[in-house]
This record gives sequence, structure tokens and C-alpha cells, in this order.
Amino acid sequence: MFAPALTILSFFSGVGFCKLYEDVADLPGLQYDFVIVGGGTAGSVLASRLTENATVSVLVLEAGPSNVGVLDAQVPFLSNGVSDNGTSYSWNYTTTPQAGASNHTFEYLRGYILGGCSSHNGMAYTRGAAEDFDRYATLTGDDGWSWNKIFPYFLKNEQWTAPADNHDTHGQFNPKVHGTAGPIEVSISGYPWTEFQQRVMQTTKELPDDFPFNLDMNSGKPLGVGWLQYTIGHGERSSSATGYLEPKIIQRPNLDVLLHAQVSKLVNVTKSRVTPSAPFAFQGVEFRYGNSLFVAKASKEIILSAGPIGTPQILMNSGIGDRSALQALGITTVLDLPSVGKNASEHPYFGMSWAVNSNQTVESITQNATRFNEAFAEWNRSRTGPFVDPSPGTHAGWFRLNANSSVFDLHSDPSPGPEAPHFEMLFQPFGFMDLPGHFISLTMAMVSPVSRGSVTLSSNDPFAPPLIDLGLLSSDFDALALTEGINLAFKFASAPAWNGYLGEPTVNLTAMSSAELTAYIRANLGPGYHVVGTAGMSAREAQYGVVDPDLKVKGIAGLRVIDASVLPIVPAAHTQAATYVVAERGADMVKQTWM
Ligand SMILES: Cc1cc2nc3c(=O)[nH]c(=O)nc-3n(C[C@H](O)[C@H](O)[C@H](O)COP(=O)(O)OP(=O)(O)OC[C@H]3O[C@@H](n4cnc5c(N)ncnc54)[C@H](O)[C@@H]3O)c2cc1C
Ligand SMILES: *[C@@H]1O[C@H](CO)[C@@H](O)[C@H](O)[C@H]1NC(C)=O
Ligand SMILES: *[C@@H]1O[C@H](CO)[C@@H](O)[C@H](O)[C@H]1NC(C)=O
Ligand SMILES: *[C@@H]1O[C@H](CO)[C@@H](O)[C@H](O)[C@H]1NC(C)=O
Ligand SMILES: *[C@@H]1O[C@H](CO)[C@@H](O)[C@H](O)[C@H]1NC(C)=O
Ligand SMILES: *[C@@H]1O[C@H](CO)[C@@H](O)[C@H](O)[C@H]1NC(C)=O
Ligand SMILES: *[C@@H]1O[C@H](CO)[C@@H](O)[C@H](O)[C@H]1NC(C)=O
Ligand SMILES: *[C@@H]1O[C@H](CO)[C@@H](O)[C@H](O)[C@H]1NC(C)=O
Ligand SMILES: *[C@@H]1O[C@H](CO)[C@@H](O)[C@H](O)[C@H]1NC(C)=O
Ligand SMILES: *[C@@H]1O[C@H](CO)[C@@H](O)[C@H](O)[C@H]1NC(C)=O
Ligand SMILES: *[C@@H]1O[C@H](CO)[C@@H](O)[C@H](O)[C@H]1NC(C)=O
Ligand SMILES: *[C@@H]1O[C@H](CO)[C@@H](O)[C@H](O)[C@H]1NC(C)=O
Repeated sequence: MFAPALTILSFFSGVGFCKLYEDVADLPGLQYDFVIVGGGTAGSVLASRLTENATVSVLVLEAGPSNVGVLDAQVPFLSNGVSDNGTSYSWNYTTTPQAGASNHTFEYLRGYILGGCSSHNGMAYTRGAAEDFDRYATLTGDDGWSWNKIFPYFLKNEQWTAPADNHDTHGQFNPKVHGTAGPIEVSISGYPWTEFQQRVMQTTKELPDDFPFNLDMNSGKPLGVGWLQYTIGHGERSSSATGYLEPKIIQRPNLDVLLHAQVSKLVNVTKSRVTPSAPFAFQGVEFRYGNSLFVAKASKEIILSAGPIGTPQILMNSGIGDRSALQALGITTVLDLPSVGKNASEHPYFGMSWAVNSNQTVESITQNATRFNEAFAEWNRSRTGPFVDPSPGTHAGWFRLNANSSVFDLHSDPSPGPEAPHFEMLFQPFGFMDLPGHFISLTMAMVSPVSRGSVTLSSNDPFAPPLIDLGLLSSDFDALALTEGINLAFKFASAPAWNGYLGEPTVNLTAMSSAELTAYIRANLGPGYHVVGTAGMSAREAQYGVVDPDLKVKGIAGLRVIDASVLPIVPAAHTQAATYVVAERGADMVKQTWM
């Protein structure tokens, strides 16, 4: 896989990428109007949008390398090669032992590459429920975060694209709710797993009360089962790096992107340019390049887009956080803001596999080197075949707990409203356990969790990895709800559509008592990599929260957070679409202030 990567690299390198700096010594200077920390999913959007105005200058500091020429970040089927812990494109984080998950630790995947997680994620494109955004509006007191006001930003971000196999997508999505001219390409899977997907669709006809077909889960009303959409165009990953930092944008004279630059903290506290409610500002951003430290200066704003792990870490390194926790590590508090790093919310995922009486599953590729090489060559030749999709799910379903469920005795309903789901079910034509043979999986997630975790510092070394506690299933509500959710999967698998196709489950979960099943879930779930909330938005007058509804850090002038950390509660969805709209609206807010 390395040789073709190098080939592509040499093909693309040249004048087109001259403003993507590999070396700090090549930067024209260290003084800009805006310094953006992190060239990830949100940061690349900001870099692109702010530099649409030629009068302002922008520097992006990104810790990781370029995405250009990284084949695993380009070929959808190979995305594990770029996302896994231990690759050169991963932060290699490990969580703290998760008490609600049998004390297991998990690798916590985060992209260490231009485009951030959008360069290595699973590419599922799901916006969430309208009620998720309406709840953000209520929590922040800013109607601008409501679904109706945010909707134009979904369209602005998106470029609906035909699938790689050009199949007829009529009846598979609703064109009325999609954008056609944005930077991020979105399409339905471009390779058919026909036997499997026909059975999924047949089940929506046989059991429509529990599993109704939903033409488009991205309409704001996600409940039901529908075709999954992906941030993929013409058989390739569409990321914030490929979409928002394409060569003609990176060549703008007012935009500089420095790679291999890891930010430690904000420095040079000043009392000028401040207001009574925001009596401090930081003028500089300290970063490490190689073995040396540098300071980049921002005359207008510093924008933190380092993601839900990096952003709170940088805030705390800078003395913004819980005073007693900072003091315990010998860090001088600049601003006591106890919510920094708190309220992390994440989705727990639990997969179930069944053997199937068919060889039309992803194992026909992953367990057959000849077929694998053929499929890779086909992608390479024509951007068609199974490599145009990530190790795929063809559909996803979004469901609620029964209204009479006894779990509501433990906690009030954590979902944002009656048209938002508690569960996601992913329908996948492959097994989880790497067993020989052919399998399908139903993966169940609790997408409106009660549990909360945190990101805290492990030491006063700004480059030491932080402590990541996802709080997975720390609430019994989530554990018992997920146990009920598993019953939905069994119900789905019991439809006549699966007769003669489904064989034995890899683990006989139906033989377990409810308590055994809950324990089994705790021992076998995993994180969804959807953490948000660690620099959450709240109303201006709220006694908690990190940023105001305009994404300015409370009590500090000239500093915003614009990335997934500001979402105060995880939406009932994979989180990149929500991150993109935060970034698009955030860019408009910055422009309103300065341009
Ligand atoms: C493996 C995986 C699979 C996923 N699958 C999906 C999916 O299928 N669909 C979906 O919608 N969502 C998915 N997600 C979640 C989604 O990708 C993220 O929620 C979203 O991209 C987060 O965007 P962000 O801008 O907040 O952070 P990021 O995209 O992580 O951007 C942060 C950037 O800042 C850089 N950075 C961090 N710290 C520093 C520092 N100190 N100095 C300089 N730079 C720094 C990072 O290298 C990175 O480039 C997945 C995530 C992962 C990890
Ligand atoms: C993660 O580990 C890989 C393999 O050791 C390494 O190449 C990469 O640089 C590491 N990432 C970071 C952020 O240190
Ligand atoms: C998890 O670890 C804690 C602290 O070490 C311990 O008290 C608890 O019993 C452990 N739980 C499980 C399920 O092992
Ligand atoms: C993740 O990678 C780091 C560095 O390579 C390693 O120390 C850690 O054990 C890994 N975590 C897991 C859960 O594999
Ligand atoms: C800015 O901060 C850096 C790092 O702390 C320090 O070296 C430098 O002297 C400061 N510059 C000014 C003008 O205060
Ligand atoms: C977490 O968020 C909730 C609102 O969702 C808020 O009431 C609470 O105070 C927050 N906690 C912290 C520590 O910020
Ligand atoms: C799949 O199964 C069919 C029928 O059982 C068989 O003819 C075919 O050769 C198999 N294909 C592969 C790739 O194993
Ligand atoms: C492996 O794939 C090749 C090429 O598609 C096919 O001819 C062969 O039958 C497959 N082998 C098995 C065991 O399925
Ligand atoms: C992809 O195509 C290039 C050039 O045509 C070739 O050099 C390379 O080996 C191919 N890679 C694969 C995996 O087929
Ligand atoms: C709860 O509601 C479901 C669906 O509406 C119904 O099938 C079930 O019998 C109810 N259970 C109880 C205990 O009322
Ligand atoms: C799974 O458990 C159920 C209930 O105990 C039992 O009826 C069924 O035969 C079991 N299936 C297998 C494959 O053991
Ligand atoms: C660009 O920003 C400047 C202020 O920096 C403002 O005066 C000008 O109107 C803006 N241009 C456009 C096209 O928005």
C-alpha cells in the first residue's frame, strides 16, 4: 500500500501545494489576523471561508501531516488503515478504564492529519434529528442553532453526488433536503450487496410498525430505516481537506497552513482589546515544530478547532479550566472555568453477528487475497467496485424505546423529543469477530445517552496525552436501554425475509437473562468516536458552559472554539455533519464581527 501512495504523492506535489508548509522556516512570518489551531474537520472549513475575504490573513497550525497522497485516506474501503491506533495518522490516544464497560480501556481514534477525523472517519453522513438542534437553541437561548436556521448550512456544506455505480437512486433519498453546490460530496453506497440489502428492505415491508422505511433520514425526522449516505464522491473520500482546502483555495495569498505544528497553549495575556465581561485576551499561540517552540500572533482572533480532545487540553494548558484541578498540577489559573473538559458525551456501540448461508458478504473480499487485489485494482482503474464504500453498512435505522419502558423509572427521557431516536441500528454485510466464513451484523448504539465523561490533564507537560474518560454506560439508564435495544435487533432478524439466509448468531444472546445480557453488553461494547461537549455552548447568563452561543470563550476576548467540542450534547447521529454546520455558522459569525 505504500508504493502507490508515493506514486500519487509525486504526481500531485508541485506548485499547487506550495502554501501547504512542511517547514516553519518557510513561513513568511508569524503575525496574522487569525490563527486557527487545528486543520481538522472544522478548522479547514474556517480556513477556507475566512480567506474568501482577501483582506484578512489566516494561519492554520496543524499537528499532523498532509492528507495528499495518503491512499488509505482516499480509498473508502481502506479507511481502517488510516484510522487505527498506531498508524502515522493517529493520535494514539487510550481512554481511562471505563467503569461502565468492565473497566476496559479503548484506543480513542482521532485523526492526526490534515482534515482531522474527516480524513479517516467512517464517512457516514447523518445530520441528526431536528429536535437535537432545537434543543441546542433552547440550551443556548439562540434560535440560530435551531434546525430551521441551521438547515441552510447543511445545504451550503453539501454536494449531492451520484453513486460510483451510477445506479438509479430514485426512492432511496429525498433530493429536496440536499445541497448540490457545497464542498463536501455526499452519495449513497456505490456498490450493491444485493442479497443483503433486499432483505433489509423486505423487512421494512414485513414489520413496518417497528421498522418503517424512511426515504431520507437526513430530513430532520430520522426515525425508521433508510439508505445510508456517505461523504464519498466518485468512489473517493470527500473530507474537509479535499473539499475545503483544495489546491485553488490553499494557493490563496492570504492563507498559510503549517503542518507538523503542535500547539501547546495560548500565551501573551493582554488587557488591551478587552471588555468588562471579557477582561483578558491572548495574543499568541505557542507551538512546537521539531524540537523548538514558536509563537504565532493573532491580531484579531485565535480560533481553537483542535477537536473535542485537543481543544479542552489546550484551554487547560493555557490556564483556562477548573481552578483546583489546574492548581493540583501547578498550572496558574488565568480564568476559572470549571466546565472545560466536562460534559463529554459519546455513543456506546454494540455489534451482533450472524453466520449467513451466502458468500455475498464483505468476507468474500477480506478473506480472499485474490479477490481483494482484484477489487483494489478495479478501484484504481475506474473508481468502481467494492472499494468505493467503507467496509460498509448499506442502511441505518433510528428507533425509540417503548414509551412504557421501565427504564424511564431510572431517568427521564434523555432524547430531545418524540421524533428523535434513542437507538441507531447499522445493517452490515460482514461479521465482527474475524471468524472464517460469511456473516452479517446488526450494530446497535445508544444515541441519546445520559452518561457523561471528561477530558482532563494528566500532567503539566502540555504535550502529554490527556486523560480521556468517555463515561461509557456510567449511567444504568444507558445500559438497560441498550439491553432493550438489543431486543429490537432480534425482532428485526426474526422477520420472514431472513429465513433460509440467517444462520446461528456468533454469540447466543437470546439464551441470556436480561441481567446477563446487560453484563455482556458492558463487557463487549465500544465507543462510537462521536465525543462532543468538552467546550460546550450555553446561554450567555448560564452558570456553566465554556462558550457563549456565538462560540466566544466566556470571559476571554478574541478567542473562539469552533469544532465538535461546542455541541453541548451529542446529537442522535454520527457527528461530522453537525461539526460541519457548526464550522459554517461559526465562520459566518467571525465574518460578522470583522468583515
Ligand atoms: C474512527 C472514526 C470514525 C468516525 N466515523 C464517523 C462517521 O462515519 N460519520 C460521522 O459523521 N462521524 C464520524 N466520526 C466522528 C467525526 O469524524 C468527528 O466528530 C468530527 O470529524 C470532529 O471534527 P472536529 O473538527 O471537532 O475535530 P477533528 O476533525 O479531530 O479536528 C481536530 C484537528 O486538530 C488537530 N489538533 C489537535 N490537537 C492539536 C494541537 N495541539 N496542535 C495542532 N493541531 C492539533 C488534529 O490533528 C485534527 O486535525 C468518526 C470519528 C472517528 C475518529
Ligand atoms: C502514533 O503511532 C505511530 C506509530 O508508532 C506514529 O507513527 C505516530 O506518529 C503516532 N502519533 C502521534 C501523534 O504521536
Ligand atoms: C473496576 O475497577 C474498580 C477500581 O479499580 C473496581 O472497584 C471495580 O470493581 C472494577 N469493576 C469491574 C467490573 O471489574
Ligand atoms: C494506542 O497506541 C499507543 C501508542 O502506540 C499505545 O501505547 C496504546 O497501548 C494503544 N492503545 C490501545 C488501546 O491499543
Ligand atoms: C509571548 O509569550 C512567549 C512564550 O511565553 C514569550 O517567550 C514572549 O516573550 C512573549 N512575548 C511578549 C511580547 O510578551
Ligand atoms: C453539563 O451540561 C448540563 C446541561 O446539559 C448542565 O446543566 C451542567 O451544569 C453541565 N455540567 C458542567 C460540569 O458543565
Ligand atoms: C459463491 O457461491 C456460489 C453458489 O454457492 C458459487 O457458485 C460461487 O463460486 C461462490 N463464489 C465465491 C466467490 O466463492
Ligand atoms: C477468491 O476470489 C477469486 C477471484 O474472485 C475466485 O475466483 C475464487 O473462487 C475465490 N475463492 C474462494 C475460496 O472463494
Ligand atoms: C494503481 O495504478 C498505478 C498506475 O496505473 C499502478 O502503478 C499501481 O500499482 C496500481 N495499484 C494497485 C493497487 O492496483
Ligand atoms: C409496552 O408497549 C408495547 C408497544 O406499544 C407493547 O407491545 C407492550 O405490551 C407494552 N408493555 C407493557 C408492559 O405495557
Ligand atoms: C439460543 O438460546 C435459545 C434460548 O435458550 C435456544 O432456544 C437456542 O436453541 C439457542 N441457539 C443456539 C444456537 O444455541
Ligand atoms: C472584507 O473584510 C473587510 C474588513 O476586513 C471589509 O471591509 C470588506 O467589506 C470585506 N469584503 C467582503 C467582500 O466581504
